[in-house]
Amino acid sequence: MEVVVVDDANAVAKIAAERITRVITEKPYAVLGLATGSSPLLTYATLIEKYRQNEISFEHVTSFNLDEYIGIAQNNPQSYRYFMDKHLFSNINILPENTYLPVCKVKERPEQIGACYEKAIENAGGIDIQLLGIGANGHIGFNEPVSSLSSRTRVKTLTEQTINDNARLFAYDEYQPHLAMTMGIGTIMDSKRVVLIATGKKKASAIKAAIEGPISAMHPASVLQMHQHTSFIIDESAASELAHVKYYKWCFAEDQKLKKP
Ligand code: F6R
Repeated sequence: MEVVVVDDANAVAKIAAERITRVITEKPYAVLGLATGSSPLLTYATLIEKYRQNEISFEHVTSFNLDEYIGIAQNNPQSYRYFMDKHLFSNINILPENTYLPVCKVKERPEQIGACYEKAIENAGGIDIQLLGIGANGHIGFNEPVSSLSSRTRVKTLTEQTINDNARLFAYDEYQPHLAMTMGIGTIMDSKRVVLIATGKKKASAIKAAIEGPISAMHPASVLQMHQHTSFIIDESAASELAHVKYYKWCFAEDQKLKKP
């Protein structure tokens, strides 16, 4: 497990985008696992800039998003499809047919949709790099506390805390879904690499529990301690409750030296 502590959100985005770029450069047919929310916005803006500068092409890339709300249409501005189109897909050369979200309409059978999503990821060759944010309660994707640590793509009911945290994104009279289809924790753990990004003081205790706490279904992100290629890329505020920041910084500096030609 790698913990990279940098000054601010811009530095977090720069490193996260570099990690994704490296994977696509080494493997043009790469499969990306993507997240929505506030955390990845700067990373997506950085990737778009790299694409505009001809540093990267998404022509052969396939993407799978972590989650999607149930009960709102794909053209609804609150849907994660809309978010991804707006903040990434429409600004790069990824083929729309290569972008997947776990969409489950109200009358569809979630077990079937979940199984198909898992199969599609498998058929694509598995996820090469999964980008994650983290909920204040430790959720990854919409795997809320007490989610099975080996769960697969399925429906989850959001906690009151998550609904309240996300209420900022909805107008007061707008319908806010409380159900979502999400990749499972087992699905995320199957990714070849994981990059979790977090910024700001609000994420500090979730980050502390994920990195230095015990592994527990009560704090889903803590399971990443079991993943061989996980990087937490966080700013100073998100790192503010960690006990071993000095050591993490030293490791990163040593690692940079090893990578020098
Ligand atoms: C989004 C997702 C969530 C978010 C998390 C943090 O697709 O799966 O786990 O990453 O809720 O959200 P932000 O980044 O808005 O703080």
